[in-house]
Amino acid sequence: MKFTLGAVAAVALSTAAFASEVAPDAVEFTDDGVTASLTGVAGDPVAGAEAFKSRKLGNCLACHVNADMSGELFQGNVGPALDGVASRWDEPQLRAIVANSKAVFTEATVMPGFYSLKVGAHVAEDFQGKTILTAQQVEDVVAYLGTLKE
Ligand code: HEC
Repeated sequence: MKFTLGAVAAVALSTAAFASEVAPDAVEFTDDGVTASLTGVAGDPVAGAEAFKSRKLGNCLACHVNADMSGELFQGNVGPALDGVASRWDEPQLRAIVANSKAVFTEATVMPGFYSLKVGAHVAEDFQGKTILTAQQVEDVVAYLGTLKE
């Protein structure tokens, strides 16, 4: 399924410039959020759910409750519950929040920027100079968040 989606996206793009990744410092944040895909390849919500709950990748449950994953233990409440989040924010806004929460909230937010080279003070040194998620993982997480409707 994942390959099929990728192939369809690649075919759709082959007449335009070939799909390429937007570098972390080249992501364009506008008042509407990040309107362009970071990869040109449709996000995969199943892979996004995995990255979301992985303690080594998104680790989103450390700070957010998510009823869609009620089987997962230890859901934190540092941030708001993400139930129905796609009814509050649209895709460009969700992409902006995941890529760099500081561009949407404030510099002071404890939420890491997952596709930013300035991940924030609360993030392990291993991540300095790297992004926590790859561009495609951001697209996958955004696709997953898009399934969380009220
Ligand atoms: C260290 C804690 C932390 C982690 C980890 C974290 N967040 Fe957040 N998140 C927050 C906080 C706090 C807010 C509220 C914004 C603010 O005021 O700082 C927030 C806000 C959000 C919002 C907006 C929610 C709304 O209803 O307004 C979304 C969407 C979101 N986070 C998604 C994610 C995703 C997806 C991940 C994992 C890839 C994640 N967050 C990881 C702390 C975190």
